[in-house]
Amino acid sequence: MEDRIVGPSGRLYADPTPGPDEQSFQVDNASSKYYSSPYYLAHKNQVEKIPPARNTTPLVLNDFLPGAMISAIEQEGKIVFHSTGDTGAAKVNRSQTAATALGHEAAVADAMVDDVVRLGNRGPAFFFHLGDVIYNFGEAQYYYDQFYEPYRAYDRPIFAIPGNHDGMVFGQGSSAPQAPTLDAFLTNFCAAAAKPSPDAHTLARSVMTQPGVYFTLDAPFVSIIGLYSNVLDGPGVLSSQGGKFPLVDDQLDFLTAQLTRLKADRQAGKRAIVLAVHHPPASADAKHSGSTGMEADIDKCCKAAGLWPDVVLSGHAHLYQRFTRTITGQKEIPYVVCGAGGFSATAPKQAFKHFPFTIGDFRLERAPIVKFGYLTVETDTKTLSVAFTVADGTSVRVEDSVTVDLAKDKVVSDGRAAGGVSSSKKSSKAKSKKKKTKKK
Ligand SMILES: [Fe+2]
Repeated sequence: MEDRIVGPSGRLYADPTPGPDEQSFQVDNASSKYYSSPYYLAHKNQVEKIPPARNTTPLVLNDFLPGAMISAIEQEGKIVFHSTGDTGAAKVNRSQTAATALGHEAAVADAMVDDVVRLGNRGPAFFFHLGDVIYNFGEAQYYYDQFYEPYRAYDRPIFAIPGNHDGMVFGQGSSAPQAPTLDAFLTNFCAAAAKPSPDAHTLARSVMTQPGVYFTLDAPFVSIIGLYSNVLDGPGVLSSQGGKFPLVDDQLDFLTAQLTRLKADRQAGKRAIVLAVHHPPASADAKHSGSTGMEADIDKCCKAAGLWPDVVLSGHAHLYQRFTRTITGQKEIPYVVCGAGGFSATAPKQAFKHFPFTIGDFRLERAPIVKFGYLTVETDTKTLSVAFTVADGTSVRVEDSVTVDLAKDKVVSDGRAAGGVSSSKKSSKAKSKKKKTKKK
């Protein structure tokens, strides 16, 4: 992989000598220790303070990719990016082997790498992670096995919003956690400058320089507003919700300001708007249900700004679900839940007999897909499409997709029309056969 890209300020992504997939953990995860710790038991139903952002200045994709790649995207007139959540690879129970847990994550990561290698400048420009990068919990010593190693050959920037597992903390006493919430996430995704990660060992990927755990990424043709929905298993929480939670409302001010800032560009047809938040506003999964208080917060901001996102992406529920929400008289918005990045595919507990299935103004369009996989989002500012690719270790195939007409604010086609399968490709290993880089 000698032709790997080098971004501005010497940013590195893929490792020059990525080896074969790992079969065992460098650091075994000890989740029972965390779940039974005094701090976690005392605080598991409480939100954690949000670390203050350095600023709310949007990230610009030009600062992460070589100029020639940005020019190619602009010339092509469209941008493509990857997204998924819940990629962490801790064992889900004692009987699961490390190789199986790692294999689930690797199947997804390897398919995403294949896309990048196969499609080059016309393919995904970056990966926007929907949270729960690391399980259980998101500590520094697990970043190698669960993030840097699986994505060692992914030669693109990886941006991320944290999930609840990334922010959860534990400790031997009940009054103070062993490490502050989001400590390792801040080190690896919110560094002040691009540099090697202390958690990547000898792998090349530079740390990401997001200004905080909520931020906006401005790319050609699309802006992605990422929010942090805190540490509870449910619901997702962005704000104080009128005094219900001990949080300040800075994220809501941020969301309103960002929507207001982007409104002119969106109305001029210059860019699409994506909202990303780990906990899904709506979910048909009884284990990880929707977060109505959070949804009310988001709605309030959209109404204040007079702009709604074109699609809302979430993770947390370990499966794929696609809703269409109708904002009466205004627009149809796909709400796509893709917590399928490699950790513990979980079936919905609710049995569905008929589709579409309605939850308030959300319409679940098709049966949830309980398989590992990832999203490919594409927009040319006229349409925006989201496709779900299953990568379950046997094959790689698109099993659902949706397209929005951005001028009409309507869903114009979805994967059901194509029988739910719009393309198929065989998985191929894109990694070099070179010997794996030794780890410290
Ligand atoms: Fe989660």
